[in-house]
Amino acid sequence: MAFLEVKNLWKRYGNSVVLENVNARVERGEFITIVGTSGCGKTTFLRMLLGVEQASSGKLLMEGEAIATEPGADRGIVFQRYSVFPHLTVLKNVLLAREFEQARWLGKLFGAVKKRAVEQSMAMLQLVGLEHAAGRYPHQLSGGMQQRLAIAQALMKQPKILLLDEPFGALDPGIRSDMHELILDIWRKTNINIFMITHDLREGFYLGTRLWVFDKVRNDPQQPDAYGSSITYDISVGQVDKSLYKKIDNDLSTTRKTQELQELGNE
Ligand SMILES: Nc1ncnc2c1ncn2[C@@H]1O[C@H](COP(=O)(O)OP(=O)(O)OP(=O)(O)O)[C@@H](O)[C@H]1O
Ligand SMILES: [Mg+2]
Repeated sequence: MAFLEVKNLWKRYGNSVVLENVNARVERGEFITIVGTSGCGKTTFLRMLLGVEQASSGKLLMEGEAIATEPGADRGIVFQRYSVFPHLTVLKNVLLAREFEQARWLGKLFGAVKKRAVEQSMAMLQLVGLEHAAGRYPHQLSGGMQQRLAIAQALMKQPKILLLDEPFGALDPGIRSDMHELILDIWRKTNINIFMITHDLREGFYLGTRLWVFDKVRNDPQQPDAYGSSITYDISVGQVDKSLYKKIDNDLSTTRKTQELQELGNE
């Protein structure tokens, strides 16, 4: 059984088709990067994996079962800009992820349970390279450090899937490459399934094991919302020649230009 199965998945908002006939199989431990033009449905797809958005039709199965219709401990998500709790230190922000889970059974954490939770939180901060900043508040952190904190929080519940929605988009290039190494390191150590949206095709080719391109197969200039995106490329990355990279880059620019022309036409 595949870890994740997507079968003839469609998503519509009213009359507008966002995703159409998406099909895929993902094995345990795969790291998938997702690219596509703005508005093509990447975040919508991630939100369906998270369980906060429902498919209009089709199936989305994790380990053979329909994805729960609410965010669960088995899925963690990090957005481009993360709002951590500003009044809590780095350590308390991470600890909170554990407290939310355990407090349902135990009330506030105390004694040995609390001590263990603090130890686990510190270990997580070490994994993301933030142990030295445990006592700082979010406003005392750089953008890269805030994303490290967001990743630590998402990982605290030991999810099976980590969803990353352009997590490094707002960071400077140097910091981004540090974050690339971090995420590859976490992936190797935890064998977690990662789905990561990026607007940087090169990032998509560098990170992960597989690249998905979300794009429209059909396009009606008169009715831009009539057709949705599906996965137009599903390829292994890391060993791909440059000409394919150029072809995908070219396809995406064509879609982008068509969209711009449509928008101009609508004004
Ligand atoms: N709750 C909603 N109600 C109605 N339309 C929505 C809703 N959420 C998203 N959409 C529409 O669905 C389409 C896909 O949105 P989505 O956010 O998935 O795009 P995206 O690929 O993540 O784009 P970007 O790269 O800009 O983040 C857009 O046209 C958007 O306006
Ligand atoms: Mg998005």
